[in-house]
Amino acid sequence: MKKLLVLFSLLPTIAFSNETILVQGAMDMEVDYMISQLQNANKEHIGSWTFWKGKMGDNNVIISRTEIGLTNSAAATTLGIEKYQPTLIINQGTSGGHDPSLHQGDIVLGEKIVNFGAFRTEHKDPNIAPAMQDQLFFDVVQRLRNEDNQQEKYTHFSSDPKMLNKAIHIPYNHGKVIKGTIGTADQWNREIERINFIHKQFGTSSEEMETSAAAQVATAYHIPFIGIRILSNSEIHSEEFNPDTAQWVQSFVVDFIKALK
Ligand code: 5AD
Repeated sequence: MKKLLVLFSLLPTIAFSNETILVQGAMDMEVDYMISQLQNANKEHIGSWTFWKGKMGDNNVIISRTEIGLTNSAAATTLGIEKYQPTLIINQGTSGGHDPSLHQGDIVLGEKIVNFGAFRTEHKDPNIAPAMQDQLFFDVVQRLRNEDNQQEKYTHFSSDPKMLNKAIHIPYNHGKVIKGTIGTADQWNREIERINFIHKQFGTSSEEMETSAAAQVATAYHIPFIGIRILSNSEIHSEEFNPDTAQWVQSFVVDFIKALK
């Protein structure tokens, strides 16, 4: 009986160890530090996308440079899954603040992840001005189809709750770490009224250009996913892009990966 109890107390540890983790970053500055922390790294280039496979603590880690934007992110995620069969996918990197309570250096864990760039409009006659307020979220781009030919509708994607609860406790000293909404689009917005509009419509904490595409593909393959984005800039606070933040978030992610044992 005592032996059984010991075994059960070890179970959560065992369940988290020896993961195969696909960790993504779009730009060189968003993967460089993680690559430097990888043991026995092997590099592979497929199409336009590069992967570095090695060890980080007990875990097999594949670092993926996705390149910028939704198309690149979806392609790199699909390739990474088919090639390395990860048990966890982490999409991390920089982003721009939408929530006024957040500042450069703060980290958003993507409790919700949404492709806010998808919209349609209703008919307007000639000479009627386009207005962003009239855009309707076109969530068909987030739709998936399961093995039974059933369509699955998503208003947003989500990070794995267990991973979120683990990440929120990782020590970090360049700002705060919060659970929030990561907004993705092939856009970089600097108009304050547009930022406020997107924040109001989608509840976005910050915007970037890859997470929802990676989360969508991970969801289709039923692979646990977490989106981790640092605020590198915040137009609403006149905080310009700080490249150091790309390293801060990678360091946080390395600590997170090492805690998964
Ligand atoms: N808006 C959009 N993308 C941003 N990025 C950092 N800040 C922003 C922002 N304010 C990231 C994107 C992309 C690259 C251009 O920088 O995710 O990879």
